[in-house]
Amino acid sequence: MLNIGVFGAWRGNSYIDLFRDDEEIEIVAICDKNTDKLNENKENFGDAYLCGDFDDFLAEGKNRGMSAVFLANYFNEHTPFAIKAMEAGLDVISECTAAGTLAECVELVECVEKTGRKYILAENYPFSTQNLKMGKIVSSGELGTLLYAEGEYNHSGDNAELRKYTPSEFHWRAWMPRTYYVTHALGPIMYMTKSMPKYVSARAAHSDLLYKIRDWRHNYDGVGMMFCEMDNGMIARCTGCTAMASDYSRYRVAGDRAGIEWGGYIPDDKVRRFYFSHTKPEGEEQISLIDADLSEFGEKGKKAAKAGHGGGDYWIVQEMKDYFLRDKKPFFDVYAGVAMSAVGILGWRSCLNHGENIKIPDFRNKEERDAVRDDRLTPFPDQDGNGITLPCALPYEETE
Ligand SMILES: NC(=O)c1ccc[n+]([C@@H]2O[C@H](COP(=O)([O-])OP(=O)(O)OC[C@H]3O[C@@H](n4cnc5c(N)ncnc54)[C@H](O)[C@@H]3O)[C@@H](O)[C@H]2O)c1
Repeated sequence: MLNIGVFGAWRGNSYIDLFRDDEEIEIVAICDKNTDKLNENKENFGDAYLCGDFDDFLAEGKNRGMSAVFLANYFNEHTPFAIKAMEAGLDVISECTAAGTLAECVELVECVEKTGRKYILAENYPFSTQNLKMGKIVSSGELGTLLYAEGEYNHSGDNAELRKYTPSEFHWRAWMPRTYYVTHALGPIMYMTKSMPKYVSARAAHSDLLYKIRDWRHNYDGVGMMFCEMDNGMIARCTGCTAMASDYSRYRVAGDRAGIEWGGYIPDDKVRRFYFSHTKPEGEEQISLIDADLSEFGEKGKKAAKAGHGGGDYWIVQEMKDYFLRDKKPFFDVYAGVAMSAVGILGWRSCLNHGENIKIPDFRNKEERDAVRDDRLTPFPDQDGNGITLPCALPYEETE
């Protein structure tokens, strides 16, 4: 039985039903400093201990047998709480992003190594139904040598929606540069191709529309686009979270024999595969729309179909249980997690320097860790509005 505590009851709440429906999981405690978030869904929380303070949550949770923590607190504040939890003897599953600075990337990795606790990033987009299908095709080898992949995660909204998701002055969503929310675009690429990023070069573009609301959303660029050299020799292009006018996200992996993609004009329940005439296996079409559904997963597939993010949230729970209860190592371990954070962090520095190509540290390597151990540059303010050491948007000069 996995006795879990949930830290952050906004996004955290979308996992509560999945946890409650799972006979291998018991929700022991839920923590959120915003009591509205606790009260709104109280009847859904059963006997779980409810509180607003993390130390109280850890102490009372442990009294009640808590062995793992799901971190769904602020985007850029996961590392210190992950470290506290692991040092208290608990395993950690964390929402994105793994770490807010390069120094935190080092601290997180070293905490996992020192404590021997289990850490998994809850990056769910690789497990959406279409991305799972694409991943299966990629791993069959039929694309040939992998050359290129792209992940484009588009998610903006009107001002009312932006306000809703930016509830306070110093909230991370008001200060996050466009490259930082990289995991939903890069994560699927890494997972499908089993590759890690080695270098990043990136550019951002200013948005006049977002500039109009700069008094409360200071990150007024519309897009950050990153270009990565991957360790399997492939190149990859990915967004952070964009505000481009687009009604879909999309993913693509292209090899020298075939390519596979979904999003855009491709029907929602299909992925599209292309072969050259000279690489097409006998009996296959040159272009085919392949069903992407969950029927091959039986009962689990039926449950996943009801879960958020195209089933991705359900599969994250399975990944977590397989690791915490059965010791099956996940792809998104601490090294994959911090590598993605570093792409977002260094991608932004590249944007600020006209696309400079920057090496992603290998966080398994002590010398490479030492080089960034004290690197705490951040675009995010603390709760009093202090501590910013990087701009969160490109320099922009107004003209007539
Ligand atoms: N994977 C996905 O599909 C997905 C979707 C939405 C959000 N997220 C991630 O989930 C995380 C949370 O995002 P959100 O949408 O819930 O918005 P949010 O970050 O505004 O909400 C965080 C919640 O945590 C609570 N909290 C923060 N710090 C706390 C502290 N020190 N003590 C007690 N409570 C604290 C807040 O009161 C709030 O209710 C972020 O990392 C975000 O990136 C992921």
